[in-house]
Amino acid sequence: MKDMVSRVFSFDMKTGKAPASDAVSLKRPLSALKKIFSDQQAADAILANGDPMVYEFYDLHMPEKEGDLAFGSSIVYPGTVGNEFHMTKGHFHTIIDTAEVYYCLNGYGMMMMESPEGAIEYQEMRPGQAVYVPGRYAHRSINLSHTETLVTFFVFRADAGHDYGTIEERGFRKLVVVEGDGYAVVDNPSWAGA
Ligand SMILES: [Fe+2]
Repeated sequence: MKDMVSRVFSFDMKTGKAPASDAVSLKRPLSALKKIFSDQQAADAILANGDPMVYEFYDLHMPEKEGDLAFGSSIVYPGTVGNEFHMTKGHFHTIIDTAEVYYCLNGYGMMMMESPEGAIEYQEMRPGQAVYVPGRYAHRSINLSHTETLVTFFVFRADAGHDYGTIEERGFRKLVVVEGDGYAVVDNPSWAGA
């Protein structure tokens, strides 16, 4: 990999989107994510009528080496599957003790975090707020708004890598569900960890 040269990327603060000349987003429609939601019947009912976009993000193909930083935007569209809000898959970093910062640009959401030992942290995110995700914590963005798109800008160590498999197998220990006009954080009855 060649040494990185300076470059500028643009992101729309409202939508999180970059111009096509800068980057292309990776799209995660419900059909690609169905299993992360606890209510599979609700997911099937939605998919019978279409395939809504749950989230997308920009992977800017930075050099994945120590000393570099990877960054981009994450865009979680409003919606629910059963009583769960739209959310990202969530992941640990492969080099697990590497942190990340998410800066909220638009909307209203939550960063759910958990360590392998079961420590739970969660933080609401509103525009102008930065959430520090400590090293060792798996993290997932959740859109708590029924109408607005949750847009965050993230930065992390470029060689950290992504471990999606552990969360795919176990799930998170906590679910965030609709409760009245707000939300509740509840135990995940299907959590499959040790
Ligand atoms: Fe991450």
